[in-house]
Amino acid sequence: MDLRALQSILADLPLGSLAYFNVLDSTNAQAERWVEDGVPHLSLVVADEQTAGRGRSGRAWFTPRGAGLAFSLILRPEQIESASIPRLTGLGALAVCEVLQSKYDLQAQIKWPNDVLVGGRKLTGVLVEADWQGDEIRSAVLGIGINVAPDSVPPESEAGFPATCVETALGSPIDRWTLLREVLRVLLSRLLDIDQDEFLQAWEGNLVYQREWVQLLREGSEPVIGRLLGLRSDGSLRMSLPNGEEVFFQAGEIHLRKFDRS
Ligand code: BTN
Repeated sequence: MDLRALQSILADLPLGSLAYFNVLDSTNAQAERWVEDGVPHLSLVVADEQTAGRGRSGRAWFTPRGAGLAFSLILRPEQIESASIPRLTGLGALAVCEVLQSKYDLQAQIKWPNDVLVGGRKLTGVLVEADWQGDEIRSAVLGIGINVAPDSVPPESEAGFPATCVETALGSPIDRWTLLREVLRVLLSRLLDIDQDEFLQAWEGNLVYQREWVQLLREGSEPVIGRLLGLRSDGSLRMSLPNGEEVFFQAGEIHLRKFDRS
């Protein structure tokens, strides 16, 4: 892949500027640097390989050469309501989930807040990093990593959750760049109604573990066990505790796991 070829694949999408790298530390890091140069809303950074890909909670994201998709979209606050910022993680996960369902016939689901699973295994992670100045957002970077070919699946010792990739789930190879284009198409279209109830319903409707017992793992705190109810309008998770009390959790440094109550 090169910039010219990528420009032509993505030509019919309403993107800002486009940057392509064969190797990069992290597309989120590059997007943050690029923001400083004043690039427009919906500018996109794509890399074939990341040497310091970032995951949530300070984890690394594995992106070896030629096997996955790693890209970051820059959002400018004047173009997006700040109340919608907490929904951006859902936007990325929902776009991947819907494309895997509609174009690849895979039974993809979202593990709140940011993972896409197929067959109970993770194949996509989303990392939104916003640059706050006081209460104001200067920019937000929405980064998505998709495991496409088997080489992109991290070794078990490095994965925080059982992992897979699109090609293993499908049983056949796919064209990565077509997948990128389709995900961006859905993402940009869903971005237009991110503040609507319909968006929240679509995000919630694709959540895994609905009505099931789950546990929330938080650094330095006891796990919280409860039944997963759905989402609040800010994208926080609704759960009912064993005593029937309803509680809510913001994404933050939380990890969700299924809980076997038997
Ligand atoms: C996670 O599941 O922990 C989130 C992973 C997000 C990885 C993507 S790959 C593209 C973008 N650049 C990064 O450095 N991270 C995100």
